[in-house]
Amino acid sequence: MTSQTDVAIDPDRLNALLGQAVVEFGATVNAALVVIGDRLGLYRTLAAEGPLSAAELAKRTGTTERYVREWLGAQAASAYVEYHADAERYSLTAEQAAAFADESSPAFVGGGFQVAVGAAADLERIERGFLTGEGMGWHEHGNDVFDGCRRFFEPGYRANLLTSWIPSLDGVHGRLQTGGLVADVGCGHGASTMIISQGYPRSAVTGFDYHAESIARARGRAAEAELTGQLGFEIARADEFPGTGYDLVTCFDCLHDMGDPVAVARHVRSALAEDGVWMIVEPKAGDRVEENLNPVGRAYYAFSTMLCTPNAISQAGELALGAQAGEACLRKALTAGGFSRVRRAAETPFNLVLEARP
Ligand SMILES: C[S@@+](CC[C@H](N)C(=O)[O-])C[C@H]1O[C@@H](n2cnc3c(N)ncnc32)[C@H](O)[C@@H]1O
Repeated sequence: MTSQTDVAIDPDRLNALLGQAVVEFGATVNAALVVIGDRLGLYRTLAAEGPLSAAELAKRTGTTERYVREWLGAQAASAYVEYHADAERYSLTAEQAAAFADESSPAFVGGGFQVAVGAAADLERIERGFLTGEGMGWHEHGNDVFDGCRRFFEPGYRANLLTSWIPSLDGVHGRLQTGGLVADVGCGHGASTMIISQGYPRSAVTGFDYHAESIARARGRAAEAELTGQLGFEIARADEFPGTGYDLVTCFDCLHDMGDPVAVARHVRSALAEDGVWMIVEPKAGDRVEENLNPVGRAYYAFSTMLCTPNAISQAGELALGAQAGEACLRKALTAGGFSRVRRAAETPFNLVLEARP
């Protein structure tokens, strides 16, 4: 048998690989700088007041010029900010501002960097999991994972939930307009729950999550937003949340995290009203590994290794679907839990939306 070291190295392929690696370890360390810039308002101030020199940006953000100068160099080399060499000043283009400075933009990526850096902080614990097989519950991570996850997903929910995803479900929009009952299961900080409540103020919407800290934060965010709809948040596991007669049960980017998605499906089935619908929003994925070997699949496989799969393992179920489960695998779990009518109702480059009925 030929060992790998006996095979001649192709210098062009090696150079291409090394070039990619340099870009990516630069990106990895710069991810922490993106989070710092987001937290300290460096991007926002540049967007609002640029072009600025390092000293001007530092003064306006109450930060230290020497750090800011280095940070700006890294951002300009990343093409995340523009450098004007003649004036020695930095600014953001409209596109850079949408991606880094405007949290309300559908293009905002700050949350993605925050959740990535938050996940990487638990590297040692996950490494141990590789050796021992032990899981790591969602609740054991730090706040950057919880807050970053909400900020990562919320722009997509704002762009799609009320205009595309709910209208794509058969008969649901009308029921919620006149006043329906909704359970948003695995709601985290409640971004999707609040959007549904805002869109359908006559409906009673409750967000459930097993993580007490997330539920407290969701309640706080709803109070800060002064929402007037019938909105509540309760601590509950997905396979035992209270109530029956729901017109709509939703699971946003969380079914694959659950240790026993079949038990969750059985419970959702028992909680739905007659003709009620379960909407499952999941990361977009093909059914085969080779279909997911692209930038989106890469990000999701990595998040899945650090966050989703360890959580599912920690809940000791039979399945740990992972974030790239694919529709066929999801359908199998739904069917085993009593949902015989499942269809893909909508999709985006990042998500697929399934409508499930018993
Ligand atoms: C990736 S986050 C998604 C949060 C939220 N749905 C969103 O889209 O922003 C996964 C959520 O599932 C919750 N979760 C995990 N296992 C759960 C379980 N067995 N029962 C209820 N919630 C669970 C976690 O606490 C976390 O809030």
